[in-house]
Amino acid sequence: MEELHSALVSPRHVWWKPAGKQEKVWVTVSFVWCMILFAMMPLWHIKGGQNPSGIRARVDPIAYHKRVEQFVADYKIGEESGMPIVAPPPGSHVYLLGRMWQWYPSLQLEEGKSYTLHLSSTDLNHGFNLQPFNINFQVVPGYDYGLRVTPNKAGDYRVICNEYCGIGHHLMIGKVLVTPAKTVAAPRQGEEG
Ligand code: CUA
Repeated sequence: MEELHSALVSPRHVWWKPAGKQEKVWVTVSFVWCMILFAMMPLWHIKGGQNPSGIRARVDPIAYHKRVEQFVADYKIGEESGMPIVAPPPGSHVYLLGRMWQWYPSLQLEEGKSYTLHLSSTDLNHGFNLQPFNINFQVVPGYDYGLRVTPNKAGDYRVICNEYCGIGHHLMIGKVLVTPAKTVAAPRQGEEG
């Protein structure tokens, strides 16, 4: 009578085959590659130059909110649809607050000048993404990230949120206006006037 196969009984014969040469080669290749990637993570962290240039500190969300309000009161130059437009002096600390669902306030910075841009949230995680550049930064409640920034191109930019934060996530759009450097550019050779 033919023996029935059952998962409860272990097979009697050697049912597996030892790994062939090709299999061994591929397992080795993938293992080595895994180890390379594993080593790249800390290496990239230290050598990659992709880490944010700046400071990190714990901050109480209420205290951060107060700082932002003070910043707005100090340097407000106008308002647009109820959103204050703030133009801080070059070299100063700039505060941007991410909250459901806005970036507060609108900023006006000067091209070629350096600032320390502080980012934090007062509710939950948001993602600071400056368009059209490939700049992404996690904005986390309880932490103040101070990034040293020097806008090098005048323009009217938007900050979008790239961390899903609820029903108004897609409406979370902020503004950063970079005004051209105030120095008068010398006319280029061959140019009229
Ligand atoms: Cu804030 Cu998505």
